[in-house]
Amino acid sequence: MKKIVSIVGARPQFIKMVPLSNAISKTDISEIVLHTGQHYDYEMSQIFFEEMRLKPPEYHLGIGSSTHGAQTGRMLEKIEEVLIKEKPNGVVVYGDTNSTLAGALAASKLHIPVFHIEAGLRSFNKKMPEEINRVLTDHLSSLLFAPTEVAVNNLRKEGIKKGVFLVGDIMFDTYLMFKDKYLFHSKVVLQKFSLKEKEYGIVTIHREENAEDKERFESILEGLKKVIKHGIKLIFPAHPRVRNRVPSDIEGLMVIKPLSYIEMQALLSQAFVVFTDSGGLQKEAYFHKVPCITLRDETEWLELEKIKVNFLTGTKRENIIKAFEYVMKKKVKFKDNIYGDGNTSLKIAELIKKFLEGEIK
Ligand code: UD1
Repeated sequence: MKKIVSIVGARPQFIKMVPLSNAISKTDISEIVLHTGQHYDYEMSQIFFEEMRLKPPEYHLGIGSSTHGAQTGRMLEKIEEVLIKEKPNGVVVYGDTNSTLAGALAASKLHIPVFHIEAGLRSFNKKMPEEINRVLTDHLSSLLFAPTEVAVNNLRKEGIKKGVFLVGDIMFDTYLMFKDKYLFHSKVVLQKFSLKEKEYGIVTIHREENAEDKERFESILEGLKKVIKHGIKLIFPAHPRVRNRVPSDIEGLMVIKPLSYIEMQALLSQAFVVFTDSGGLQKEAYFHKVPCITLRDETEWLELEKIKVNFLTGTKRENIIKAFEYVMKKKVKFKDNIYGDGNTSLKIAELIKKFLEGEIK
């Protein structure tokens, strides 16, 4: 029996792993899950395992927070130990976090093939730790599962053609898997936070470039204050790295703990607008047909910008307000889904199986 080790550690990776673990369980491949411990607060980790009924990881490294080098280095050492013990036929890594890079590096040095979910995304900003992680991971991978044409082209431009498969976006699979649940929950969630359908916006900020830069962070808050003046409430499930930085006295801005997946999707399903610097949330807003104002200078999801449902504003308050005023005029129109057919995880499982059986070289 072939064996793979799936390496996760941060919130979005648990969400992406759910449909793929499910698809793998229907094959004859056995899966061992390794959690690096990069995210460790209950609301950033355990809640997803409980709510989405993920089996507990076979290995939990408990690495926690540190500087980039120390965090990645500690992961590298411990992941290597596990891989030497388990001797898997392949390693699955997700996205662009330090856990992704550590997993890809440990595996490739042991000559274990790496399978990268969400390959080929680029911001072309090497100051972002995520960009460094994803570029390196792609160059170490044997199978590269690209969510979009843009991603496939990015890989091609870097000379990576072998092992690249356009499979669609795995987060769309997760979104469909839990649709009944969050729609069922949406009334309760609105009641819990005293919100009304389409009368509120959701805010998330966690990227190092915004969270650790006082000027950028404050400029975003100034922009959001102006948005509130247009008569809309904002709800901000705050990532732990910003929870002590958001003032609690901004009228109309409700700062809460990070939400579970179902609660977040329930809130998204009824939201008027999203303000975020998250990659995943930009897509989820689109799945729910909610306009998204992206508080970054670049995005990996160019297709959303192109069809004018996602507005890249950076952190300047004037730009944030301008984008919001456009959204207020109800100018945003949504087209058919551009992120696949919801069978991304099945396609990936099938391709991994073929690779392990030697049908894909
Ligand atoms: C990481 C990923 C990012 C991903 C994001 C999803 C990297 C470099 N970045 O960013 O790509 O989009 O996860 O959330 O891997 N902290 C806690 N409790 C937790 C987790 C974090 O208090 O459970 C705090 C710590 O102070 C830590 C800081 O948040 O220093 C940042 O955490 P870290 O894991 O380094 O990066 P994220 O911002 O979460």
